[in-house]
Amino acid sequence: MEEEGSSAPWWQTAVVYQIYPRSFADANGDGVGDLAGITSQLDHLVWLGVDALWLSPFYRSPMKDFGYDVADYCDVDPIFGNLEDFDALLEAAHARGLKLMIDWVPAHSSSEHPWFVDARASRQSDRRNWYVWRDAGPGGELPNNWKCAFSDAPAWTFDAGSGQYYLHSFLAEQPDLNWEEPKVEAAMHEVLRFWLERGVDGFRADVISNIGKDPALASVEEARAKVPPFVFRNEPVTHEYLRRIRALLDTWPGDRAMVGEIPVFDSKEVATFYGAGDELHMAFNFPPLYAPFEAPAWRERIEVTTGALDPRDAWPTWVLSNHDVPRHRTRYGNEARARAAAVLLLTLRGTPFLYMGEELGLEDALVPAACKVDPGGRDGCRAPLPWSRAQGHGWGGAPWLPWPPDAAERSVEAQRDDPGSMLHLYRRLLAARRASPALRLGDFAFLEAPEGLLCWRRDFSGDCRFVVINFEDRELEWPQDDRHEVEVASDGRGESQVYDSRVGPHQALILKPTRPARA
Ligand code: GLC
Repeated sequence: MEEEGSSAPWWQTAVVYQIYPRSFADANGDGVGDLAGITSQLDHLVWLGVDALWLSPFYRSPMKDFGYDVADYCDVDPIFGNLEDFDALLEAAHARGLKLMIDWVPAHSSSEHPWFVDARASRQSDRRNWYVWRDAGPGGELPNNWKCAFSDAPAWTFDAGSGQYYLHSFLAEQPDLNWEEPKVEAAMHEVLRFWLERGVDGFRADVISNIGKDPALASVEEARAKVPPFVFRNEPVTHEYLRRIRALLDTWPGDRAMVGEIPVFDSKEVATFYGAGDELHMAFNFPPLYAPFEAPAWRERIEVTTGALDPRDAWPTWVLSNHDVPRHRTRYGNEARARAAAVLLLTLRGTPFLYMGEELGLEDALVPAACKVDPGGRDGCRAPLPWSRAQGHGWGGAPWLPWPPDAAERSVEAQRDDPGSMLHLYRRLLAARRASPALRLGDFAFLEAPEGLLCWRRDFSGDCRFVVINFEDRELEWPQDDRHEVEVASDGRGESQVYDSRVGPHQALILKPTRPARA
């Protein structure tokens, strides 16, 4: 996938597709997706045109946080299959030219992980120091005022058996690992080696900014006492850990890459996690994900992001949806906006991450109270993917969560049959991106445009594209002296025709100069 005249690694030119394994495809008909289900749909993903997959956790887990509570980092939970299924998936992906990244959850384990079972058994246990323990205050008080994610509960739980509190940034069933203990760092490096050895191309590192802690574990101002995203958001020691992780990845051949989840809402701080090119290859940067679909908000987020990353020569990432937030189709309120957003996501400079189902324009499922299962309230965006129109939508049994709205019309089958569908739009966008060095690797520059439009230009040694996004619900004009062909239109209108300066309501266009563009 290397670009002529450039030595860009695969993770800079790839479009990554996130799979939440429970909800993607179910091969054994138990209502929960599995690894064999993913393998069975790889040809569809190749047809769609993505380059790499990121799998959310499939490890052994009590599933209190649906796999982000890992009880064995080096085995597959039986609900998803086994290691042979994983190897078969990896081999099938590689045979199709797809890269495979997996989730690595280094900041906490499950409370059922043998490490924690051992650690809590006694204060003298060999692994006591693998987690973060503190005594109660003289009057039995909590060690400090930190609160965990998902609720306003304290980030500490008292372990009556051994008489101390332990720290958990998330659920009580997800005790934080203590990276100050060199054996923890070594053990988590061992996990990376285990999967590198098996042949994975990279990792998505879960809340990686959480691995380094303030050594004093001091209370903080009440308004900022929630661990993610405020407490230990950027501890100096985290960067030392990241440099050692990077050194490990760099000893493997084949550009193994890591993208880190940094739930910190300041792009300048996110940028520090790239180090001097010696920490993360890429970091998720969430401020754009939380931006409303409005031109000034997006312009600001893009400028702040590039302003933070460019001086470090750090490669951006872009993401609109994932398994933790309501889908952008739901947030933006209608399909036309979601279509325009797809053009935006796939034409910015950096690596785009798609979340399974956005290519179908799925909305969040409405989950009745009796069916809610996630302690973080994120069930809606995790609804199963409908594969076919027919009842059951390609799943053998009733799936673990309800279907998203309009599952039959939104199914893969229905949309593959309809050239005007959202699915075909994504396919055309991915094909256009693959065919254009400018879109994959080119320089990025905003162009002047009337209010309500954002327009930019991408350039890579002679290859050039213009992108126009109409954030408004009315037609706008962006006159051009040069002749352009409409290469992709978010609503399909005018494609392959000469651009006539008009941009429809919520329409987004990729324009291709018909003659070499002037600089
Ligand atoms: C990350 C994951 C989220 C999980 C949390 C704890 O934010 O994306 O799903 O609940 O970490 O592991």
